[in-house]
Amino acid sequence: MSQKKRIAIIPGDGIGREVIPEAVKVITASGAAVEIATFDWSAERFLADAVTVPPDGFAMLGREFDAILVGAFGDPRVPSNIHAKEILLGMRFKMDLYANVRPVRLLDASLCPLKGIEPKDIDFVVIRENTEGVYVDAGGIFKQGTVDEVAIQEDINTRKGVERAVRYAFDYCERHHKQDGSPRKRVLLCDKSNAMTYSGGLWQRVFKEVAREYPQITAEHMYVDALCMQMVRDPRQFDVIVTNNMFGDIITDLAAGLQGGLGMAASGNIHPGKTSMFEPVHGSAPPIAGKNVANPVGAILTAAMMLAHLGMVMEAGKIEASVLEAVRQKKTTQDIGGVLGTREAGDWVAEHCG
Ligand code: NAD
Ligand code: IPM
Ligand code: MN
Repeated sequence: MSQKKRIAIIPGDGIGREVIPEAVKVITASGAAVEIATFDWSAERFLADAVTVPPDGFAMLGREFDAILVGAFGDPRVPSNIHAKEILLGMRFKMDLYANVRPVRLLDASLCPLKGIEPKDIDFVVIRENTEGVYVDAGGIFKQGTVDEVAIQEDINTRKGVERAVRYAFDYCERHHKQDGSPRKRVLLCDKSNAMTYSGGLWQRVFKEVAREYPQITAEHMYVDALCMQMVRDPRQFDVIVTNNMFGDIITDLAAGLQGGLGMAASGNIHPGKTSMFEPVHGSAPPIAGKNVANPVGAILTAAMMLAHLGMVMEAGKIEASVLEAVRQKKTTQDIGGVLGTREAGDWVAEHCG
């Protein structure tokens, strides 16, 4: 008898609270053997009792769960965004989830804003370093509010942090195939080492060292500014991209645009062997929250990614196939050409993934 995997669910704020229930609905419909516990960590909870993460919260997640499925954080009533920082970045940093894996796939030609691009042309992945960089919030403000004000935001890059992210990218390349079954062959470093010479220099040196251990994989490089242009001009050329925390954040929103928008993009925050966290790339989208219009596909594909990570490859495959069919038949929300609401789009995927 197989043991059920334990999943912690944290819907969060805004549309997170609408898309995550759809993802859970679909997980259940796929027949995946999971046990679910839901946590209310959110702006609502923070406004009620000033708690972002309860004491022992991250240790508890690591101890008691096999994976975590998260919605999004961000609420206009918490302008400091402190709860999002403590919960979301807290999980990434304190649970040491160092590889943010963001697959970029086009499910249907109609979703891509570029001319003449088909699903086979967009199938790459961004591995984003997830525990360092400017996100560490090292630095400070001096003489705040005066004309002499100084703001410093340090870019922290450690050899260990860079190396494990780069190695993850090469290992990923070695172990994963493209959707069409062909092997992945290339890892590209995206940086800004022409201007940021210290941090970029470290990434450059570590990347070249690690690349030598993988002679069968082609190692490439592009500056982040040129990469943005290339991603729009010809996304066919990308396979596995590895980059720092901030560039990874930015280029994956750009990449989401190629996939049909933020409602389509999935991600996993992974530390091999530890409890990992999965979340759609999009945020809480306050203007559309509570209206039953948010696209649940990103959250549903994120759930599939989580199941595959936990070894439930068949269930993940069924969910992905159902999403693909929904997109092709336009049984979707309006942002990707359908007429359904969030719940109805979730229902359709759930009904077709059994
Ligand atoms: P956003 O991703 O919430 O929204 C950007 C745009 O994409 C908006 O036009 C929105 O309507 C659209 N969009 C996003 N998800 C969609 C979906 N599922 N279906 C249809 N349309 C969708 O980014 P933002 O507006 O920059 O940020 C809003 C809040 O979310 C902020 O507080 C931000 O800090 C937070 N945020 C959180 C996360 C996270 O928790 N992982 C990620 C990004 C942004
Ligand atoms: C993301 C988000 C977060 C990030 C924000 C909410 C801090 O944009 O997950 O892409 O920048 O990592
Ligand atoms: Mn982002």
